[in-house]
Amino acid sequence: MFSNKTILVTGGAGFIGSAFCRYIVNNSKNKIIILDKMTYASNMLSIKNIIKNNNVVFVKGSIGNKILVETLLKKHNPNYVLNFAAETHVDNSIKNPETFIKTNIVDTHNFLNTLLEFYTKLNEADASCFKFLQISTDEVYGDIEFNAKPVDESAPYRPSSPYSASKAAGDLLVKAYFITFKFPGLISNCSNNYGPFQHNEKFIPKIINNILNKKKIPVYGDGSQLREWIYVDDHCEALTKLIEIGKPGENYNIGSGKEISNLELIKFILKILKDLSVINTVDEMKYVKFTNDRLGHDKRYSINSTKIKTACNWNISTSFECGLIKTVSSIINVKKNL
Ligand SMILES: NC(=O)c1ccc[n+]([C@@H]2O[C@H](COP(=O)([O-])OP(=O)(O)OC[C@H]3O[C@@H](n4cnc5c(N)ncnc54)[C@H](O)[C@@H]3O)[C@@H](O)[C@H]2O)c1
Repeated sequence: MFSNKTILVTGGAGFIGSAFCRYIVNNSKNKIIILDKMTYASNMLSIKNIIKNNNVVFVKGSIGNKILVETLLKKHNPNYVLNFAAETHVDNSIKNPETFIKTNIVDTHNFLNTLLEFYTKLNEADASCFKFLQISTDEVYGDIEFNAKPVDESAPYRPSSPYSASKAAGDLLVKAYFITFKFPGLISNCSNNYGPFQHNEKFIPKIINNILNKKKIPVYGDGSQLREWIYVDDHCEALTKLIEIGKPGENYNIGSGKEISNLELIKFILKILKDLSVINTVDEMKYVKFTNDRLGHDKRYSINSTKIKTACNWNISTSFECGLIKTVSSIINVKKNL
């Protein structure tokens, strides 16, 4: 990995942002500035152990706060900026799209403007290695037919939910700033992540917690929707490669190739919990409660990640089973310590 860099990580107290910060601290001596608004989705426990480190600075605040961001940029002069800050739960975006428009579009745009001002004042040497990485999602590609090939980066953005539409808009601003102002921003489009410290509102922690708490797992429609799952540390490793090697102006898909339906996923987790002697039966019908389908629910996401594999010599290193065992264990440990 790169060394002697200062990295501004926004949304660094959220699920993936915090995993990225832990990954950097555990694998390098780079300096990190975490900027997080600390919404309901953040979790101080996820960064508790690393903020004691001399190479980590934590600041509470919004990416949309120009004065705060300007002050941080002036003080720390980052080489790399990774933007994880976002509203991220699709169901919330259906109930309350405004927050998503504010954070994922308006605040993201304000952030880009402040970064552009900073970038244009850098000396040539600093400007030549400065890079901005917008962390985005495969959901911007919209619904993929069951029999269609996984989409590569040339696929059009066709978002279905207010969440994916707001992420798509943020991404398009990054693209526009590259074309118009030569601002060195690139975009990663990752598939569904799972791992420690993911908020309970998300599907995998919800499955595990509901089983542990003997509550039924709500499943939209018939549970046949296909998702591609990646262990969060594999995503983080890909991001460290992209920020160093990835080309400004480009998109890079990040996926594991592991597609599984929501119902099959529940069965898989039940089997792991049975193997760990946490439960006695794997009969999913005892655990599942089918509900009306989510509005605008995409049937399938599926991405072709050849570009990053070739350009950055990256691949996943965590099998689905191994990643799920780590995730289950971390949830059980958090419960024990409550
Ligand atoms: N979770 C996934 O499966 C997944 C998959 C692909 C891409 N992504 C993208 O990765 C990024 C991180 O996702 P996550 O699952 O870790 O999200 P998360 O909801 O767990 O965390 C988001 C973090 O951003 C912070 N935040 C929100 N608004 C902010 C603002 N205005 N300024 C500063 N901080 C703010 C929150 O406090 C929180 O800590 C998002 O951009 C998301 O779209 C997520």
